[in-house]
Amino acid sequence: MATHVITGAGSGIGAAVARRLHARGDELVLHARDAGRAKELVAEFPGARTLVGDLADPGKLSWAFSHQSLPDRVDSLLHIAGVVDLGPVGDLTPKTWRHQLDVNLIAPAELTRHLLPQLRASRGHVIFVNSGAGLSAHADWSAYAASKHGLKALADSLREEEHAAGVRVTSVYPGRTASPMQAKVHRQEGKDYDPSRWIDPESVATTIVTALDLPRDAEINDVTVRPGR
Ligand SMILES: NC(=O)c1ccc[n+]([C@@H]2O[C@H](COP(=O)([O-])OP(=O)(O)OC[C@H]3O[C@@H](n4cnc5c(N)ncnc54)[C@H](OP(=O)(O)O)[C@@H]3O)[C@@H](O)[C@H]2O)c1
Repeated sequence: MATHVITGAGSGIGAAVARRLHARGDELVLHARDAGRAKELVAEFPGARTLVGDLADPGKLSWAFSHQSLPDRVDSLLHIAGVVDLGPVGDLTPKTWRHQLDVNLIAPAELTRHLLPQLRASRGHVIFVNSGAGLSAHADWSAYAASKHGLKALADSLREEEHAAGVRVTSVYPGRTASPMQAKVHRQEGKDYDPSRWIDPESVATTIVTALDLPRDAEINDVTVRPGR
């Protein structure tokens, strides 16, 4: 049975992925920002283990993990947690920049660093949930887009570095997806939010599980998912 470490399993796309993998009986290690959130995740996904650490403070993840046991086996590491804060460059403060870079880029690098030995041992798979903003940046999206462009670089470098060890690396680039994050984006854009216009998180989950389940002779490197009609 495969063991998956998942960030962001409490909401949106991450929750949809966790429900799929839980329903088929895979082992889940769910990352949570704090102990309270970890308790809620275990109540939602009975049998899951948790890993606690605030992604907004990647410099402290090493310390947090040294007080917990990391899973012995990791078949896949799914980086799904993320944050967004819109605004023109003229208004964005270093605090806003840092928060998005910490959660969306540096924490995934740090978590990957900690779990690479297990991923190499299982010839495992690292999946990064990126964004259309990781491929092109638009007005008011600079900090988020920079964090996601950086996440693309992290994934591309990791893929080359770990290919010989048999570790597969996939970046998924979704367009707007109906989740609490998208509701926030609409609030910041001053627009009405109609979730039916956007991708269902279940469809992004299908994309991610398809990449995970692909036989070992092939690897999906990058996949873009856009809202349909
Ligand atoms: N929604 C979209 O339109 C869209 C489009 C393209 C890409 N994406 C990307 O897809 C991924 C999932 O987004 P979503 O739409 O599902 O968002 P979401 O519903 O807002 O969920 C975000 C998740 O990230 C977790 N998280 C945030 N800050 C954290 C921290 N400091 N420490 C630990 N966990 C933290 C949240 O934890 P809690 O549950 O504890 O709050 C939550 O589970 C993100 O990487 C996002 O950038 C989203």
